[in-house]
Order: sequence, then C-alpha cells, then structure tokens
Amino acid sequence: MAYGLLKGKRGVVFGALDEHSIATHVAKRAIEEGASIVLTNAPVAFRAGTINKLAEELGVEAIAADATSIDDLTNLFEKAPEILGGKIDFVLHSIGMSVNIRKKREYFDLNYDWMQKTYDISAISFHKMMQVAHKLDSLNEGGSIIALTYIAADRTFPFYSEMAEAKAILESYARSFGYHLGERKRIRVNTVSQSPTMTKAGSGVKGFAEFFEYSDKMSPLGNADAESCADYCMTLFSDLTRMVTMQNLYHDGGFSKMGMHPGIMTGELRII
Ligand SMILES: NC(=O)c1ccc[n+]([C@@H]2O[C@H](COP(=O)([O-])OP(=O)(O)OC[C@H]3O[C@@H](n4cnc5c(N)ncnc54)[C@H](O)[C@@H]3O)[C@@H](O)[C@H]2O)c1
Repeated sequence: MAYGLLKGKRGVVFGALDEHSIATHVAKRAIEEGASIVLTNAPVAFRAGTINKLAEELGVEAIAADATSIDDLTNLFEKAPEILGGKIDFVLHSIGMSVNIRKKREYFDLNYDWMQKTYDISAISFHKMMQVAHKLDSLNEGGSIIALTYIAADRTFPFYSEMAEAKAILESYARSFGYHLGERKRIRVNTVSQSPTMTKAGSGVKGFAEFFEYSDKMSPLGNADAESCADYCMTLFSDLTRMVTMQNLYHDGGFSKMGMHPGIMTGELRII
C-alpha cells in the first residue's frame, strides 16, 4: 500500500545490485511513495547488467559511481539534481563489501591492505558521499540520509569479521555528520540496523544460512525481510520522522533486545 509519503521528494539510492538487494526494494518503494530517484552503483555492477535492467523497469536513470572515488561522487551529486530537477531530499547508503571475508581470511590473520579497502568501501564512502554532496550544496533543507548497518557493530558476532569494525565506523559517521548537517540544514542522518537478509552481500558471510535461522528463531517477530526494511526506510525519508537523527535504529524483529530464548534453551525450538 502506498501513502504518498515521499510525494515530490528527490532521492539518490546507492547499492541496488539485483532483485534481492535491500536497495532495490527501497528504490521500488520510494517510487511507489511518490519520489523521483536516481540509482547508482559501482561501475563493475553495471557490467553485470542488472542495474540497467532495474533502471529501465523503474523508468529512472542510473549513474555509475565507485563510492570510494571523490571524482565519481562529485559527478553523481552534480548530475542527480540536474536529472531530478532540484536538490536531493534523501540518500540511501546500502553498500558493504569485505575483502578479507571474500578471500576467506580468519579474523586473527587479516590482511591490513584489504582491511583498509573494506573500510573505504563499507564505511568511509558514507562520509565521502555526505561531504561531497554537502560541498556541492546538492542536499535540500530538511532532508534525510540513511545507511544500512548490522548489530555486529555493537556486539560480537565472530563470523562478521572486519565488517564489525566497518559498521562501527559507519554508525559513528551518522552521529558526527548528523550533528553538522542537522545544525546547518536540518538534515537527519541515521543508520538502520537490519536483520540478516538473503542478498549477495549477506550470503557471502560464512555460516550465514545457519545464523539466519538462529536469528529468525531468537526474534519474537522473526527476521525482518528486505521489503519491511524498505517500508521502514520510507518512514525515515518522510517528514513524519523529521525530529529523528543521529540514531542507530534496529529493524530486526526484536532480536537486539533478546537476552535468551526459553525455547532454544530447553531445545523445544531447534536450529537446523
Ligand atoms: N544482507 C544482510 O544480511 C544485511 C544485514 C544488515 C545490513 N546489511 C547491509 O545492507 C547493505 C546492502 O547490502 P545487501 O544485503 O542489500 O547486499 P547487496 O550485495 O545486494 O548490496 C551491496 C551493494 O554494495 C555495492 N558496492 C560494493 N562496492 C561498492 C563500491 N565501491 N561503490 C559503490 N557500491 C558498491 C554492491 O555493488 C552492491 O550493490 C550493506 O551495507 C549491508 O552491509 C545487510
């Protein structure tokens, strides 16, 4: 159901790779809610072809931008307001990639060059996009910026490896930049801490399927899926949440507040 929550708003959505991507669901919902958007992803993602297909399906433009490149981000935040006919009201950062996880390195044997790349792509890109967009004056007063994160920033989930620290940096940027953009332009910056979700980035993590089930059982509402995450993002992009900023907001069916689950402890609820 659409409520016209984003009627007349303009947005930039990073990270739609295929039909499973959380960003793909957000892009679709934003259009349903009345927004006009530009999609963006790394140049390599364009080679796979799915982003062009999605852009065509949604009737929007897609601009290639490596989120670690200031030149690419400058081009993006110059072009997007031109294409959309005005300054940007909302931005979704839905980007994550760990080189050490990809290369299956254990946490006590990490490669530090790869770690820096992981931080640059998964966290520093968030600062870069806000800094570039702000310097170019591409962001509208009263806008809203969201980055997706995971609870491993705050608690230990060993399989999440160096991404835990990447997400901790990401969440901190939301607080720090949230202050500056709030003071200057009443722009909110928040992170949404999402349940495990079956996507390319998610399923690249070792033991993901088992953990997905564990998390689902531990959460009183079960795991939150990508569609419900997109719904939540709509409320955060809308004016209804105009006083919410610098927060890490859990969208996880209650998982983050559970201590123990009686069913799992007694064995009534079995995992795998
Ligand atoms: N899937 C999960 O279980 C889960 C849970 C919590 C949070 N998240 C977060 O949600 C976000 C989206 O992930 P997803 O699960 O939809 O997976 P996904 O693989 O569909 O999306 C990750 C995106 O990052 C993009 N990307 C990688 N390097 C980039 C670069 N240099 N420049 C620009 N884009 C780049 C990829 O092309 C891809 O579109 C990530 O931040 C992820 O950490 C995912």
